[in-house]
Amino acid sequence: MKISIIGAGNVGATLANRIIESELADVVLVDVYKSMAQGKALDLLHAAPLVGYQRKIMGTDDYGRIENSKIVVITAGFPRQPGMTRSDLISKNSGIIKDVIFNVKKICHTAIVIIVTNPLDVMTFLAHNESCLRRERIFGMAGVLDTSRFAYIIAKELKAKYNEVETLVLGQHGPQMVPLISHTKVSGEPLRKLLPKEKIEKLVEESRRSGTHIVGLLGKGSAYYAPSAAIFAMIKVIVKNEMKLMPVSCFAKGEYGINDVCTGLPVILGKNGIEEVIQLKLDPEEEAALKKAAESTKELLSDL
Ligand code: APR
Repeated sequence: MKISIIGAGNVGATLANRIIESELADVVLVDVYKSMAQGKALDLLHAAPLVGYQRKIMGTDDYGRIENSKIVVITAGFPRQPGMTRSDLISKNSGIIKDVIFNVKKICHTAIVIIVTNPLDVMTFLAHNESCLRRERIFGMAGVLDTSRFAYIIAKELKAKYNEVETLVLGQHGPQMVPLISHTKVSGEPLRKLLPKEKIEKLVEESRRSGTHIVGLLGKGSAYYAPSAAIFAMIKVIVKNEMKLMPVSCFAKGEYGINDVCTGLPVILGKNGIEEVIQLKLDPEEEAALKKAAESTKELLSDL
């Protein structure tokens, strides 16, 4: 099986490393900077005798090499710089997404496509539109990352093990993300029973600021270890047909009262991509926050 990654930067190359180290698939790394993609692929191959993986990886600028990929992940684009908001990125990254989708459509129209480029919900909408693919086959990675960040923050606060935290973050990948407190439990206990409202709000705020905090700490570029882990988690579920509930940025067709925009919704992922969009029972405030997040993304779409 082949997985192609468009954009051999920090997120793309770290994801490639995760895929071949786990022996999940062969990898094609495509970048406008051909020799950089080739260099990273060769560097990963030099580690194969040490780590013991047998998977193939190549770097290229030739889209012909992505033919017959089961999954294409798009990380091509500029990352956020300090002081830059996600919306500042729109004009820069929309041209890149159009160009990449044009090539993916031409060479590999049967692949499942996962968008990672920010601002995520806007780029996923654009890619969905340009690709003419069904929404089941093209969606964005963000909710899995936001959920992992929120779970980390909760576990840290309650000194719990990470696998004891059950939570889900929907909505926009950005300031309007919607952590579902009504669906958050630690060791089976509702978070609302374990912490006062004000404390939970503080944790949500910390979670909202996570991406920006990392951008500030790094000084150059944005997060890539956790984002690549989140993409890898989605890929694994698709490749192994695990039929797992995960939040993804998905083109909404009336679910939760939302239409014609890509936003984080809970879905079942499996071998066909999105197998089903799940309608969870939410608190009225959570439902209102989801609608507000979708409206905020619609406003960003007008910049396209
Ligand atoms: N085709 C292919 N690759 C491209 C194109 C293009 N048209 N335009 C840019 N690239 C490549 C760049 O050459 C670079 O190697 O995309 C890569 C992006 O890598 P980084 O700059 O390291 O960015 P990264 O940290 O990987 O983030 C990528 O994911 O999380 C998001 O906000 C982040 O939008 C950003 C994306």
